[in-house]
Formats: sequence, C-alpha cells, structure tokens
Amino acid sequence: MAERILVTSALPYANGPLHIGHAVEYVQTDIYVRFLRSCGRDVVYFCADDTHGTPIELNAAKQGLKPEEFIARFHEEHQRDLRDLDVRFDYFHSTNSPENRHYAELIYGRLKEQGDIERRNIEQTYCEKDRRFLPDRFIKGTCPNCKATDQYGDACEKCGKAYAPTDLIDARCALCGTPPVRKHSEHLFFKLSRHADFLQEVLRKPGFIHPGLAAQLQGFFEKGLADWDISRDGPYFGFAIPGETDKYFYVWLDAPIGYIATTEKWAKETGKAKSALDYWAADADTRIIHFIGKDIVYFHALFWPAVLNVAGLHTPSEIKVHGHLTVNGEKMSKTRGTMVPARDYLDHLDPSYLRYFYAANLGPGVEDLDLNLKDFRQRVNGELVNNVGNLANRALSLLAGPLEKRLAPGRAEGPGRALVEAALARVPEVRDAFEKLEYRSAIRVITEIASAANGFLQTAAPWAQVKKDAEVARADLSDAADVAYLLGALLAPVTPRLSEKLFAQLGAEPLSFQALEGAKYPLLERSRPIGTPEPLLPRLEEERVNAIIKLPEGAAAPQAAESKPAKAANAEKKPAEAPAATPAPPGAGESSGEIEYDDFAKVVLKAGKVLAAEKVQKADKLLKLTVDVGEGSPRTIVSGIAEAFAPEALTGRNVVVVANLKPRKLKGIESRGMLLTAGPGGKELSLLDPGDVAPGSEVK
Ligand code: 2FM
Ligand code: ZN
Repeated sequence: MAERILVTSALPYANGPLHIGHAVEYVQTDIYVRFLRSCGRDVVYFCADDTHGTPIELNAAKQGLKPEEFIARFHEEHQRDLRDLDVRFDYFHSTNSPENRHYAELIYGRLKEQGDIERRNIEQTYCEKDRRFLPDRFIKGTCPNCKATDQYGDACEKCGKAYAPTDLIDARCALCGTPPVRKHSEHLFFKLSRHADFLQEVLRKPGFIHPGLAAQLQGFFEKGLADWDISRDGPYFGFAIPGETDKYFYVWLDAPIGYIATTEKWAKETGKAKSALDYWAADADTRIIHFIGKDIVYFHALFWPAVLNVAGLHTPSEIKVHGHLTVNGEKMSKTRGTMVPARDYLDHLDPSYLRYFYAANLGPGVEDLDLNLKDFRQRVNGELVNNVGNLANRALSLLAGPLEKRLAPGRAEGPGRALVEAALARVPEVRDAFEKLEYRSAIRVITEIASAANGFLQTAAPWAQVKKDAEVARADLSDAADVAYLLGALLAPVTPRLSEKLFAQLGAEPLSFQALEGAKYPLLERSRPIGTPEPLLPRLEEERVNAIIKLPEGAAAPQAAESKPAKAANAEKKPAEAPAATPAPPGAGESSGEIEYDDFAKVVLKAGKVLAAEKVQKADKLLKLTVDVGEGSPRTIVSGIAEAFAPEALTGRNVVVVANLKPRKLKGIESRGMLLTAGPGGKELSLLDPGDVAPGSEVK
C-alpha cells in the first residue's frame, strides 16, 4: 500500500483573529498538500484551534464570557478566514474536545507508567489578590539590566535580556498591580532529560529538520536538557489532570496532542480510517509532517518527539520551519497598521495575489519573508496578471472570437510544438522545487514558461495572421493554449481558483502533476471546443492595497528604498518626455529636486514591443508608435524621437514604457504612455531596451 502522509499546520490560539502573518504558514502548507495530492499521493491535512491556557481564560472573563463561548467565536472565524484564503483542511478541530481529552489522558497515563513523570515542589510567583499563580507574562516590573520600566517577567523588550521573574525590580501583578509573593506548589514534570540520546538521534535523521536548526538545537544538549513542567494550578482553562486536585495539563502538553485528536475526529466522521492510530501507532506506515514557525521549534523538535516516543506512538518524520512575515522590511505591528487581519485582506482582495506573492518568495529556509508592498503589486501584476493571465487571454480571445472556439489538431513539427515540448521538459524542475519547498524556484520556472509562450505569440502574431491564413493562426493559438493548460496545472497548488477558471475557459478537465507524468504534445484534447475567455484576475491597483494597509505618512519609505537599491539608484534618471526631454542636470537629486522613494514608486514602468511606427505629419520630431504593452490591445504612443530613429527601424524593438502617465494629446493624437530614452537628445538618443521579456513585464 502506498505510504500515507499526514500534514499539519501549527494550531492557532483561539484568542484573536488570524492575520496575514499567520497566513504564511497556512498558505505554505496548503500549497504543499495540494501539490502532493496533485501528484496522486495519499495525504491528509489537519489543524485545530489551540484553546487552553491563562490568556484565553482571562480574555474570556474580561468579555464576561465563559472560555467555551469565547473560543467558539474564534473557531467559526478562523475556519471562515482559512477557507476564504483557499486553505483546505481535511479537518479543523479544537483542542477543547473529547478526543483531545482522551488522548491527553492516554498519553499522560503512559508517561506515568514508564516512570517519566516526577512530582516536585517548586516556588512560583503568586498574586494573593487574584488568588492565582502568575505566568511570566503576567508579571511586570523594571528590567534588572537596563532599568527599563514596564517589562514582562521573562525578558526585557528594550535590552533583550532574559531573566527570571524574581529578578525584576519592583515586580507587580499585571492584572491588579499589587506586588506578588512567592508560594510553593507541587508540580508534575516530564523527565525530558532522560531522552537526550533518543532526541539526538531524531535530530540527526536526514530531512527531519533544517540542518541549521538541528545545529542550533544542539545548544540545549550542551547545557543539559531540563525536565519539563507539564502541570498548572487552577484557576486554569484546560484539562484536569487525572488523580490530582486542582491541577491542569499545561497548554503546551495538550496542544500538539490536538494533531492526534483531529485525526481521530476525522477518522470517526468520515470513516476514512478506523481511528487516529492508523496514522499515529508507532509502527504505522505513515509520514507525519509538521509545518511550524521558527518560534516554536523547541516544542516540536524536542518535547513532542520525546512524549510520543515514551507513549509508544509515531514520532514526527519531518518538521518544516518557516520564518516570520515582515511588512516593508519591518516587524508587523498593530500600531503601524501592518498586522493586517486576514479578514480585512479578504474583504478587499482575491487570495490569489497573496498566495502567489508568498509562494514567489518562499524557500525551505527559516529566513523571514518580506511583504514589500511595491514588490507585491509589481510581482502579481507583472507575472501573474500580465504574463500568465495575458497569455491565456491573448490565446483564448482570438480562438473564441474569429476562430469559433475550435482548436487545431497537433502539428508534426514546428515552433509551436517545440514550445509546448520545451515547456513540458521543465515540469520535473517545478515538481522538484515544490517537493523541496523551493516554491520561489517553482514560480521562476513557471513565469519563464509563460514568457516563452508570450514571446512565441509575439513572433507568430496570430492577430495579423488570422486575416491571412486563419488555420495557421488557429494552430499557433492552440499551441499557446496548450502552454496555458500546462501553466494551470503547475500553478494549481499556489492559486487554485485561477487554475479552475483557466481549465473552465479552456474547456478542459483539471490537469494534475500525476497526469503530466509522461504527458506528450498536444496536451489539450484538440477536438473539444474551448470555453468562454475572460480576464483571469484584475490588476492589483495601489489604492486597493492602500485600503488594507494604511501606512502612516512616510513610514516605510527608507526601508523600501533600501530593499531595492538598484531602483533607488535609478531614481535620478528622468524618463524622456514626448518630445524628448532634456536630461536632468548633474546632481539634480541633491537639493530641492529630490523626491521621496514613494514618489518614484508611483511610476509604473513596463516592457513593450513596438508593433508599428510612422511619422506624425507636420511634426519633425514626433513619431506615432503602436506598442504592445501586454494588455490585449496595443497602445498608441507619440514620442519625440523622430530625429534619432527611422520608423522602420523601430518595428519589433523592445522598449521601456512609462505605463501610468495620464493620456495626453500631441498634434491631435492621444498618446498613452512614454518611451524611456537616454542621451543628450536630437539625433543622439538611444532607446532603453528591457531585453527579451514578454510585453507587459514590469520594469523594476
Ligand atoms: O504558538 C502558537 O500559536 C501555538 N498555538 C501553536 C501550537 S502548535 C501545536 F503544538 F499545537
Ligand atoms: Zn493581581
């Protein structure tokens, strides 16, 4: 029987809404699961709300709610947000469930049986007024190191020093402000220290965790692994520990057990497995893969495998760790408006933009992912809308219009067939990249395939050919449609709703990675009529992004400039106006002529291809150009370059176009855009050439 794969994302706390930072992990995992499924692998994907602990209990009380009522609200919200982000779980459960209680008790019982639970009397910080022990985050005071006031009991946010709550100067209970006392209580410890050898072996397994992280975790062994306190005193929202009075399992004990509980619930509800043990029994032939953020590695790579091993259950096979999201190079922050709730994003924008951008920037490492807002627009517009979207639209519009939705049979040879075959030859690269979580490489190959197909159409010019020989145009367009079909399959894990639309417009069945194994030209069933074409996705306009993330004036400008040095350096270059502009004087950027990065960022530059050029009557310096800027229909641009270029020398040239200039009339002709040139002017001008990229590609 084929190996079964169980994939999880970390369980979100049922303590607040999900934001675009959480979305990184769910999108990363969902892409992986969709990819595996598309390859025909037997995979299930689980998640649940993490519902226990002091913060949830106190926040519920603040709102006058029972914890159960409080977490129920987020259970609904989280599921809705994740569904609308196109994240598809096989089951989304809750750690506050009978299944989780069952497995928490079962596992605890086994730890006890194995002699791995030890009772110890410890002293902790206690508030007599609130009558509760205070977790470190509920104690505040002055940092013993830098003397910053209002710091938490575990570490100083100003100087970064970690300390014990007893080290705080002038410590106070964060709830009521009274000074806490020290008090003894009996706690239950899991003897993690006994499992160092086992854990070292786990960490050495190839593929278990990123080697850099495995090396980092060695630090814990060098210091000697500390035993782990798995109990908390009441009042506490969690599961009571069997056989104890007013003692509860620490939230981090029962949270990962939620992975098992969710498997159990799914098994029972769907009948697709007898119980969770089909996956979690020590000898089950399963691959268990946890996706997590870098802040919770310790729990997943040390405590969790040790607990599972002692309990006689299956240990994780792989732990995939990602970095955190930054926005314009800075940590997300509520006050800066960059910690955007997923719902705010979804109220304004299609999830495909975000999923694509995350994929385009994700690799297998733990480095942070930056949502640079300008990059965000440029990449989704340049690559997804203009490159992939445009290819589909160009191919299908002509096929649907003058060519009555009929495709041509495959050809024995020629550039169209070669194009499709070259694209098919790249499928293993994309497959490998997805498998290795190198999503950014997968996206790079996908965009290269799309660019090649756009280049093919540019040369074949079926819009002109259709008038001369409709069957040649049909054959070329059918080959381009084949590539669009392939792109639908390759992009499906990333932007599933775009692929669905694309398959429908092509009138074709969904295409999977599995079906692509050994697939041959032609890909589409050429005897079937295509569907009805329409744009796959609108451009992502700046105003729409601004509606979600309202950065305070100038907040992110320096950061954005730093992350794009090449473009910032170009900012002093002034594009040629029509008629050709005088170059900016040397040092123009040094004084009053300076602009903010954001001003420059407003200029949209695109690659274009000159389709035709002619002189403008009664204007020696002007040429009227027809330029393909990847928009379906070409633009007319009037440019003051007639002294430097003969019209016939311009046809077919690649140019850089300022694409968001207000249209302007020159000699009665409406000019929609401007070409970039360099040189003193007159006869001495050269045209900026973006290289061989598809028209519409953003220049950045
Ligand atoms: O850090 C967190 O957000 C935790 N709620 C993750 C728990 S993951 C698993 F262990 F349950
Ligand atoms: Zn108090």
